[in-house]
Amino acid sequence: MAISALQFERSKYAPKLPKALQGPVKVVEGKKTESVADQEEIQKLFPNTYGMPLITFEEGGDAGSLPVMNVGVILSGGQAPGGHNVISGLYDGLKKLNPENKLYGFLGGPGGLVDHKYMELTDEIIDEYRNTGGFDIIGSGRTKLEEESQFDKGVEICKQLNINALVVIGGDDSNTNACVLAEYYLQKETGIQVIGCPKTIDGDLKNEMIETSFGFDTAVKVYSELIGNIMRDANSAKKYWHFIKLMGRSASHIALECALQTQPNIALVSEEVAEKEQTLAEIVDYIAKVIARRAEDDHNFGVVLVPEGLIEFIPEMKTLITELNDLLAEGQQSANDFKALATDAEKREYVIGKLSEASSKVFASLPEGIAKQLTLDRDPHGNVQVSKIETEKLLIEMVDVRLAEMKKEGFYKGSFSAQNHFFGYEGRCAAPSNFDADYCYSLGSTASVLIGNGKTGYMSSVRNTTKPADEWIAGGVPITMMMNMERRHGHMKPVIQKALVELDAAPFLKLAENREKWAVETSYVYPGPIQYFGPTEVCDATTKTLELEQSK
Ligand code: FBP
Repeated sequence: MAISALQFERSKYAPKLPKALQGPVKVVEGKKTESVADQEEIQKLFPNTYGMPLITFEEGGDAGSLPVMNVGVILSGGQAPGGHNVISGLYDGLKKLNPENKLYGFLGGPGGLVDHKYMELTDEIIDEYRNTGGFDIIGSGRTKLEEESQFDKGVEICKQLNINALVVIGGDDSNTNACVLAEYYLQKETGIQVIGCPKTIDGDLKNEMIETSFGFDTAVKVYSELIGNIMRDANSAKKYWHFIKLMGRSASHIALECALQTQPNIALVSEEVAEKEQTLAEIVDYIAKVIARRAEDDHNFGVVLVPEGLIEFIPEMKTLITELNDLLAEGQQSANDFKALATDAEKREYVIGKLSEASSKVFASLPEGIAKQLTLDRDPHGNVQVSKIETEKLLIEMVDVRLAEMKKEGFYKGSFSAQNHFFGYEGRCAAPSNFDADYCYSLGSTASVLIGNGKTGYMSSVRNTTKPADEWIAGGVPITMMMNMERRHGHMKPVIQKALVELDAAPFLKLAENREKWAVETSYVYPGPIQYFGPTEVCDATTKTLELEQSK
């Protein structure tokens, strides 16, 4: 494979490990745990894996080698920088426990376990992927492991390959399923352990014991570099307003972190919109007022950050989407009637006539293109594919209309010309930052120790991450500890609580404290590209979110 000069140099990087993982490891069991809520129900559903103790690693365990073990690893869901280092950390850790240990990778995500698609990972393969971005070593996928028949297919292949343990590298849903799998394998006495690792650029798999999910650090640094470049362009040309949508299916952690790194004129936070029950018109009005205020200083340029999940957090849009999903559900007479209409205008009128009064008003206020998108793009379950809605374009169109009104009323004298951007895929497979390279390698290494000690139903945990890596605290957290009961597709289910942006926590408060100033003044910060070689203040800095959260 042809590789770049940077990749060649970077392949020599030796990820830093917590002290406890640098030599023989002592496993210390802490207090028994409880789930974050709904303790009785969760305990009933997980009789074997509920209440297990927290585990912390210390230096100085037994250095003797363990019996041979084979392990399988699965990458689940969206790519996140550092996945290859979780696998290399796991591989090296397993070889340290016993050089005869083998690691198998299931191909294309959880589906590989069910369909028995796998490959053995060797020194040669692992070395090719050390410190690289992407999940291409074995591929990823979004098949959900939920059915017992899938679990049983997993047992078949594990027996065939003598696999004693599986490591699932995924987000909140994948780790929830990993826990269900661990419980099922214990109940059935299969002897297969299951360990999870916290992955997602969205940053919404975190709690008291999991400080951050891997990939967030690198992805936000890539987006912040791009935003900074755009800011410098905006400040040079002084003629465009840039509306930048940032990935993050639901939570706004990415948008918030990028705002803290770059200091834009406007940064929307979905969780705040929901909390304040803001309407789309109010959001548009807020943006238009900032634009008008800057125009008073002849600053007809600026940068607006928009979180990907915004639409679903605007209460009136949420209601509208639910009504549209019902109205246009496959098999409904209304869906057939809608399809039979010949023109877009007829379809629009039809929908307006069928929705509740409030929703039809909202629908009618939307630009035609967006309104059409809401009635067309549906996923296999019949739901609107909200992530495909071009919120940044929607806002530009609506702000343009509002500014024209304000101009007529004499409240706006500037000129408005906008550019739209969407940053997501640009950052998901970037070469991991030092933080992610070290963190991921440590998570993988931690998983190997948990497996070596017979643990199951645990997630790898590495804490104290704002300190130098050798002071990091590694161990395991029972996955049941992070669970509560939530309604999903009409049924109550045990799930890991998704961590949304907290409006009373330091990262959001920092934005709230500064945003009026950033709106009017041009206070842009240009973070520049991730640095892999150079001074530690530049190369090893963590995210502002982590810094602020951990400095409490
Ligand atoms: P995970 O939660 O699986 O890590 O994926 C996160 C994410 O990158 C979101 O930010 C984004 O909305 C989504 O995946 C995009 O999904 P896809 O890769 O299927 O286009």
